[in-house]
Amino acid sequence: MKKAVTALVLSSLLAGSSLCAADKASSEATERVHRTMLMKDMRSMLDAMEQIQRGGLYSSSEDMKLGVKKLQGTLKTLESDEIKFILPKDQVYAYKFAQKTASMLRLYSDDMVTSIEAGRMDDALEDYTQLLKQCTSCHIRIRNW
Ligand code: HEC
Repeated sequence: MKKAVTALVLSSLLAGSSLCAADKASSEATERVHRTMLMKDMRSMLDAMEQIQRGGLYSSSEDMKLGVKKLQGTLKTLESDEIKFILPKDQVYAYKFAQKTASMLRLYSDDMVTSIEAGRMDDALEDYTQLLKQCTSCHIRIRNW
């Protein structure tokens, strides 16, 4: 009887641990998917910044506005919990910092549209500088570049 109980306990322990391994593997797979999507957003942000810069250099306010629209489309991810998938888990401040940079990106990109519409290109280019600063400031802090 005792043996049977031991065997039962053992087998359920083993079942438990293999379930754990499966859980771990699937959460790693989920994490990879999230990371891939976030990296895709990062590349879209780069595209957006390039479009804004090109627009600024060619004096095309239309291109600049399209770039802002693209940038703002990716901000939702940066502002959400989703960003945690690419932030270092050992840096507690990282998430707060991400939210702060996201709100700065929103602020300066909104301001850029206002400046363009008012025909103040110098202000719009100043906004561009501020936007770029947000990208690099996060990269420097978080990626230790
Ligand atoms: C809140 C932090 C944060 C902000 C803000 C941020 N990034 Fe990133 N970015 C990251 C992290 C983290 C990685 C890399 C993750 C890794 O390599 O593990 C990254 C990677 C990238 C990459 C490389 C993508 C790839 O395919 O490898 C590009 C390009 C990029 N970011 C562009 C930008 C641009 C442009 C901006 C500003 C408009 C920006 N990022 C703002 C955190 C940020």
